[in-house]
Amino acid sequence: MRLDKFVLRSTQLSKPSVISCIESGEVRVNQDVITDARYQVHENNYIEYQGKQLVPRPFRYLMFNKPVDTICSNVDGDYPSILNYLEIENKDELHIAGRLDADTTGLVLITDDGRWSFNIMKPETHCEKTYRVTLAKPLIEGVAQRFSEGLLLQGESKPTLPAKLEHIEVDSTHDSIAELQVLLTISEGRYHQVKRMFFTVGNKVRQLHRENIGNLTIDIPAGTWRYLTIDEVKSLTY
Ligand code: URA
Repeated sequence: MRLDKFVLRSTQLSKPSVISCIESGEVRVNQDVITDARYQVHENNYIEYQGKQLVPRPFRYLMFNKPVDTICSNVDGDYPSILNYLEIENKDELHIAGRLDADTTGLVLITDDGRWSFNIMKPETHCEKTYRVTLAKPLIEGVAQRFSEGLLLQGESKPTLPAKLEHIEVDSTHDSIAELQVLLTISEGRYHQVKRMFFTVGNKVRQLHRENIGNLTIDIPAGTWRYLTIDEVKSLTY
């Protein structure tokens, strides 16, 4: 990690103050004064600021149940950022691991561990995400097969990776909305991927809710968050 990031994570200094204290020679790494904020440091380095050893705060890992009409951005835009829902210290150190559209709800991961989130999101990891999809009309035959084989989305040159489409058992009430619901599991994260997949097979997504990322299932009410357990963090460590 860069020296400025290490100092930021282990003090209450602002970003500009961190840079100026490094450049003015107040930070030592293994006894040597280092004035380059980009200098790479490791966990086992002995880092001091004004003569005291710095110990970074432990990384934080959260799940959030995103409500509709919110955005996965650190700042507000057309809708409020989901970070407004977190009453938590040093919020500006957190980032959102993988975006959902403003009208999509459900499971979002939030962390300050850049390596962890990078590994979850990088395409080679093929981390599975399951969405509950409410469709505008019943599915035509053969869609599950087409999704499992991969299909070409408009404007793209590579087909999607195999995806799993499951029909949800409808209970005896014959709820008409439930009849239009399916579960779709994909292992990549292309732009508007789920909506574009259903568009390609002549349908339209009415509602989209992310239920799972890897083995992790959303289990908290909309608009709330909780810390992940150590086992949950490990299960998503690639
Ligand atoms: N696919 C979409 O189309 N939208 C999302 O928000 C997530 C996946």
